[in-house]
Amino acid sequence: MFNLILFGPPGSGKGTQSDSIVEKYGLVHLSTGNLLREEIAQKTPLGLEAKSFMDKGQLVPDEVVIGMVDSYFDKHKDAKGFLFDGFPRTVAQAVALDNLLDLKKTSINTVLALDVSEEELVKRLLNRGKTSGRSDDTNEEVIRKRFAVYSKETTPVAKHYKAENKFISIKGEGAVEEIFESISGEVDKLI
Ligand code: AP5
Repeated sequence: MFNLILFGPPGSGKGTQSDSIVEKYGLVHLSTGNLLREEIAQKTPLGLEAKSFMDKGQLVPDEVVIGMVDSYFDKHKDAKGFLFDGFPRTVAQAVALDNLLDLKKTSINTVLALDVSEEELVKRLLNRGKTSGRSDDTNEEVIRKRFAVYSKETTPVAKHYKAENKFISIKGEGAVEEIFESISGEVDKLI
């Protein structure tokens, strides 16, 4: 299996790049943000719980997200690899992911981090908020809160993978196609 984490702050282009990566490398896309939004759309108890956190720009509790990832693995037993987008977002999630992959006798191959300035991120998210219908994109205060949460809770995840020499930074500004070329360049060295 080949398992890749696409890492980076809100608006860095993880979702945008994921579409091209899964198509080129045949990986299964696991976006915890998308899975949570599906739960909200279906008005499940998990979705209702998650919405209260997401609307405020806070993280959904680890146990909820880890349980959701575990069930997603069960539904994709034949995957030849996963692209993780927006997960793991805390060190506890990273440790849980390592353990779940260990049970499948596999591990994370690499973490590619998209590097984008905060001003560009705010611009992208407010712009997307005009059409996306995402409540967490329309309010600049909620967007800034998401960055603060990223800085406090998610940046330590980078350290977790740096310690294993699995962390690579990629310039996340510029044309979408150019960024995809950089990502492909790194993946092709490993696959
Ligand atoms: P999630 O859905 O994961 O959102 P996010 O991390 O905040 O990221 P975004 O989807 O906003 O950005 P992205 O990096 O995917 O960028 P995109 O490609 O869309 O999470 C939402 C919420 O769910 C969280 O706040 C949390 O509450 C909860 N959650 C999710 N996962 C969780 C977890 N593991 N644990 C706990 N809670 C969790 O691009 C953004 C915009 O920029 C788009 O409009 C795009 O067209 C544009 N764009 C992309 N690339 C470029 C470029 N190169 N140039 C110009 N514009 C570009």
